[in-house]
Amino acid sequence: MFNEPMLRDDALKGKTIVITGGGTGLGKAMGTYFLKLGANLVITSRKIEVLQKTAQEMEQDTGGKVLALACDVREYDQVENVLAESLKTFGRVDSLLNNAAGNFISPTERLSANAFSSIIDIVLKGSVNCTLAFGKHWIKEKQAASILNIVTTYAFTGSAYVVPSACAKGGVLAMTRSLAVEWGKYGIRTNAIAPGPFPTKGAWERLLPGELAEKFDFKNRVPLKRVGDHQELANLAAFLVSDFSGYINGEVITIDGGEWLQGAGQFNGLEAVPNEMWDAFEQMTRSAKGS
Ligand code: HXC
Ligand code: NAP
Repeated sequence: MFNEPMLRDDALKGKTIVITGGGTGLGKAMGTYFLKLGANLVITSRKIEVLQKTAQEMEQDTGGKVLALACDVREYDQVENVLAESLKTFGRVDSLLNNAAGNFISPTERLSANAFSSIIDIVLKGSVNCTLAFGKHWIKEKQAASILNIVTTYAFTGSAYVVPSACAKGGVLAMTRSLAVEWGKYGIRTNAIAPGPFPTKGAWERLLPGELAEKFDFKNRVPLKRVGDHQELANLAAFLVSDFSGYINGEVITIDGGEWLQGAGQFNGLEAVPNEMWDAFEQMTRSAKGS
């Protein structure tokens, strides 16, 4: 059930949606579903060959129209070019999905200043560049629109060993909530999704290469004991860029099977206590009450 499409067939009909990092992983999954719901799609990233292959697959799979454009989100002029080309092809853009990201796992003291900056530049500066270019356009044209930012749960908890990514995603979350208020008056809604573990080649191979993936088995960290399915993320994203979520603005929706809360609750570690030990514990705690 959770891996089935949720919205009605024409839920995004007539909308044009731009997805950064749309050629792979979660961007590709969300884009494919938007097309199935009737949207026009623009996918961008640095590697044009990857984008073109994805665009072809998507068009065959859905019958929709996909524009593939090379764009390094760190470069403002390249982002402006995406806007101009999207308008030339589709006449309008209704939503921007800031999904492009870079990340690596490392003790922070091992990182060079350039390594730290490269993540901040892709994730924070890249999302700022896209948001600014598209926002200026929508405000000038007096057009209602929506922005959806893909963050992570450690945007609000922080996380060791991915500090550049945590700083950058935290910044994107702050931008989400700030612009929801500032640009609400222009009819621009700004929201975010904080996904838990959703297997993708990009995240898994880069972040957890080789045996690390088995040792650090994500599903054991999730109360629901499974990782996410791409369709359930796509369902949420499609809802948030659709008009059905027209009163949702400034929200960050976590979709992680309860993962971050499991790490947060002080007594959550008691999950490790086997059932038969609870009788003994109860006796001990009840007798402690009388003493
Ligand atoms: C330490 C590293 C490094 C590593 C690169 N660097 N990899 N430092 N550990 N593993 C250093 C380099 O030595 C260099 O510093 C600096 O970082 C920039 O490296 P470049 O290769 O020139 O950067 P660039 O071409 O911009 O590539 C960006 C990248 C790359 C982040 C390094 O991995 C990439 O393109 N990633 C995109 C896809 C991705 O990461 N997807 C995962 C998203 S998942 P010096 O000082 O030597 O010049 C996610 C959520 C996680 O974000 C949640 C999962 C559950
Ligand atoms: P992914 O496939 O590696 O996606 C990252 C995308 O970003 C790639 O398509 C990459 O394409 C693009 N990109 C990287 N640097 C770029 C740049 N400078 N300019 C433009 N595009 C750039 O990984 P993913 O798992 O699908 O991640 C998608 C989003 O979900 C990210 O925001 C990530 O932080 C978030 N997320 C994922 C998970 C998960 O479990 N998978 C969990 C939490 C959050 P090019 O290399 O062609 O540029």
